Amino acid sequence: MLVLVTGATGFLGRRVVPALLARHHQVRCLVHTPGRERVFPPRTVDIQYGNVLNPDALTVAFNGVDAAVHLVGTIRRGNRNTYDQINRQGVANVVAAAKAARVKHLVFVSAIGATGNPGYPYLFSKWQGEQEVANSGLSYTIIQSSIIFGPGDEFLNTIAAMVKTLPVVTVAGSGKNRIQPIDVEDVSWCIATAVDLEVLKGKTIELGGPEQLSINEVFGIVARTMGKRRLRLHLPVWLMFIMTWFSQVLPRPPITMDQLRLLPMRNVAEPQSVEDNFGFTPKTVEGNIDYVKLLSTREAFRILSGDMPSRIRDH
Ligand SMILES: NC(=O)c1ccc[n+]([C@@H]2O[C@H](COP(=O)([O-])OP(=O)(O)OC[C@H]3O[C@@H](n4cnc5c(N)ncnc54)[C@H](OP(=O)(O)O)[C@@H]3O)[C@@H](O)[C@H]2O)c1
Repeated sequence: MLVLVTGATGFLGRRVVPALLARHHQVRCLVHTPGRERVFPPRTVDIQYGNVLNPDALTVAFNGVDAAVHLVGTIRRGNRNTYDQINRQGVANVVAAAKAARVKHLVFVSAIGATGNPGYPYLFSKWQGEQEVANSGLSYTIIQSSIIFGPGDEFLNTIAAMVKTLPVVTVAGSGKNRIQPIDVEDVSWCIATAVDLEVLKGKTIELGGPEQLSINEVFGIVARTMGKRRLRLHLPVWLMFIMTWFSQVLPRPPITMDQLRLLPMRNVAEPQSVEDNFGFTPKTVEGNIDYVKLLSTREAFRILSGDMPSRIRDH
């Protein structure tokens, strides 16, 4: 089966592609920034350059495709319209091209907590994307993932940067809100498997790791992994909003206003979802994040000053 992957060179996409190849699919990658296809060994995948906002490029990319995995999405707003363009219009364009190409299965990766409430702009735009897919008439599966960790992630690397450089780490609010981080290789395997599963057609599946952890526990795991002990300073959320607002002048702020807004939202998945739908238990955070130990002090300062080092994340 020929599977098109959009967002193929991203954090998740570069793991989804090998997972699809391991499942004996042919893979075509939609590459947004020419040159980034270098993350794949030569001649293992077919490359099409294009932007999801360009319907002509999508028509070419979808030519002869049997199934597609749509991963393009953004949690960072370059301007007021980025979410609407990428997370809604981009999905609408992909849906239209998939329909024209008579694609048999579209797997769309959304986020846990996607909501029709416009007060949460990121989750609202992901919900709008879901609506485009669910109302398309295509056979589809929507995957709502919890926060994803693995080498190159922004979440744990930012916490690690704080642990590395600061004697006391700052946490927004009580830090008791729960998340369910899931390993990037595990999510990728679920996505690649979903492409083949008839039983998942028409369904929305939540994905989360094996544990629901409070933010405080996640800080503790990262610090332990790095062999450090750190006191936590709990700042009121309003103060974090002010500090984050000022940090938005940085080229790549460690946290955005929208990410801060997500804190009180539900960010845990249905328990056992990976086991029930995909037949394996995903990896825990503790014991599987040795990459945070590799962070140098210089790299940690760069992350906190909004300049993500390319060794850690090259896109
Ligand atoms: N990472 C998480 O923790 C997480 C959690 C839940 C859900 N998700 C969802 O999972 C999906 C993938 O996330 P990710 O972390 O892999 O994101 P990512 O690392 O930012 O990758 C995004 C990919 O999309 C490409 N892209 C961006 N704009 C494009 C455009 N206009 N046209 C075509 N391609 C474009 C990027 O290419 P360039 O780099 O060349 O621009 C990159 O390959 C997203 O939909 C996200 O909402 C992620």
